[in-house]
Amino acid sequence: MHNTKRISDDLVWVGANDRRLAMFEGVYSVPNGVSYNSYLLLDEKTVLLDTVDKAVQQRFLENISETLGTRKLDYLIVQHMEPDHSIVIHDVINLYPDVKVVCNAKTLALIKQFYDFEIDPYVYIVKENEILDTGRHKLNFIMAPMVHWPEVMVTYDSTDKILFSADAFGCFGALNGAIFADEVDFDKDYMDEARRYYTNIVGKYGSQVKALLAKASAVPVEMICPLHGFVWRQNIGDFVSKYVLWGAYEPEEYGVMIAYASVYGNTEIAAEILSSTLRDKGVRTQMFDVSVTPASEIISAAFRWSHFVFASTTYNAGIFVTMEALISDLIAHNIQNRTVAIIENGSWAATSGNLIREKLAKCKNINVLDNIISLKSGLKPSQLVEIEAMADALIAAFPDKAGIKKGSSGDSLTQSMVDANAMFKLSYGLFVLTARDGAKDNGCIINTVTQITQDPMRISIAVNKANYTHDMILKTKEFNVSVLSESAAFRIFQQFGFHSGKDTDKFADCGYDARGANGIRYVPEHTNGMIAGKVSESFDYGSHTLFIADVTQAFIISNEPSVTYQYYFDHIKPKPQPPKEDQKGFVCKICGYVHEGDELPDDFICPLCKHGAKDFEPL
Ligand code: FEO
Repeated sequence: MHNTKRISDDLVWVGANDRRLAMFEGVYSVPNGVSYNSYLLLDEKTVLLDTVDKAVQQRFLENISETLGTRKLDYLIVQHMEPDHSIVIHDVINLYPDVKVVCNAKTLALIKQFYDFEIDPYVYIVKENEILDTGRHKLNFIMAPMVHWPEVMVTYDSTDKILFSADAFGCFGALNGAIFADEVDFDKDYMDEARRYYTNIVGKYGSQVKALLAKASAVPVEMICPLHGFVWRQNIGDFVSKYVLWGAYEPEEYGVMIAYASVYGNTEIAAEILSSTLRDKGVRTQMFDVSVTPASEIISAAFRWSHFVFASTTYNAGIFVTMEALISDLIAHNIQNRTVAIIENGSWAATSGNLIREKLAKCKNINVLDNIISLKSGLKPSQLVEIEAMADALIAAFPDKAGIKKGSSGDSLTQSMVDANAMFKLSYGLFVLTARDGAKDNGCIINTVTQITQDPMRISIAVNKANYTHDMILKTKEFNVSVLSESAAFRIFQQFGFHSGKDTDKFADCGYDARGANGIRYVPEHTNGMIAGKVSESFDYGSHTLFIADVTQAFIISNEPSVTYQYYFDHIKPKPQPPKEDQKGFVCKICGYVHEGDELPDDFICPLCKHGAKDFEPL
């Protein structure tokens, strides 16, 4: 029995639907089925445009037979050689032995590669812009290589202004009795599937899609007949405008796609809180668990949204397997022009964040935000500010036309990020002072941080000019102070105090990437508070600069007591080794550095901790 649809006076859809196929191309689920479209033109000559998949072969052959009646088939145009449109060619030739198979040279080569039947006697080769005159209709062939395969061509009927578009403008989903897109609520019921079809099938070939759109824009088009999905005769421009965006890798909508990979839910909750924070700030979000949602759906969403967050646990010292597959898939689909934020998790060696960043470096124009939130097994309350900062950084990356209020909660946010209780952690103690200049992070140990005023909240820090961090703050006017607690080991003082940041990366092996809202690192371990400052004034006091700064962020990290200077000398600094026999020299009381010799110049500066001669004593 046949089932056809009349499209115009002399054009009939003779395709068929398949609702039993589980995976299209063995990769893409098609829960709503798929249509294989073929069109039969009944002009003075009869012309069949493409065939169908073997799954619906019988219905298709009955459709042709019924539509042709007693007429013979004159031409079979093969626009696309993929087997879901070509496997029935031989059956058509057997039934209609007078048929001419119209195709281009590349198509012929592929026919011979795929099938063993004798094709040469039937072939009629056409080239770009060649016209087939079928009587009333003039069919113009336009090459569209790589939309989806290299041999693809589309056909323009200049008489009725119909574009037979091959894979372009297709859609997953069976037709369910309708044939025209305007017969259904396409935006509501089919747009997601049209996007999933485009992005997964031809998403990689944006420049070729653009080339086809440019060719098609040169002619008036009143109807589009693709190989899958609905025929377009109304609002064609709306659908074409989606192709313009997708082909240029421009997002359709401003919002954040959050894809996470979480084994025990700890990475997931960080992603959930970030999504909730973004929603509170007026940003639309869509979340995916990459272990559950098929990659084709996430690829599709990626072409829709402007910003991404990838949150992944570390697995086998790499990116979690499903997240790695997703990122590779996105790269393969040529994703471009997006802003990306990354959350990583790792209980002993978090690596997934930087690995994701490295992989994304292969993409064009992907702006990966500097600050990776690094979770150590789970999100700690002290890291909520990092989530808030990531949400703000994502929002800051929206263009003004996105209509998202930037800094709408900025002032109050800054205030709410300042926990005045963090000031109670200050003592005559020891602190890690951190700064950032461009991509360079650095830090040093200081011992003078003082609260000056409460409202506005201000602090002062005194920094030795010999420190590279000093120069960075002088230039950038921003810093973070991490208040060291009593559990701080001597290695932290060595890490930040005994080298120069000019020639070493003091964070190279630290295993964390905690940052404040200002993007500057802080030390989340063996510390009890973090205070961020924005410099308002600075005073030159010879060896040191005194910086006065407004507090822009402050929070408590732990309830451990702060290290005092006395505690450091009594419990942390290694006891000095007894001098060797006959050894002469001076030892630094701060860090234990030994300067050998009979004399210590008055202007001597300890090469390790930068303290002066007054802090040395004879061995
Ligand atoms: Fe349905 Fe590229 O084919």
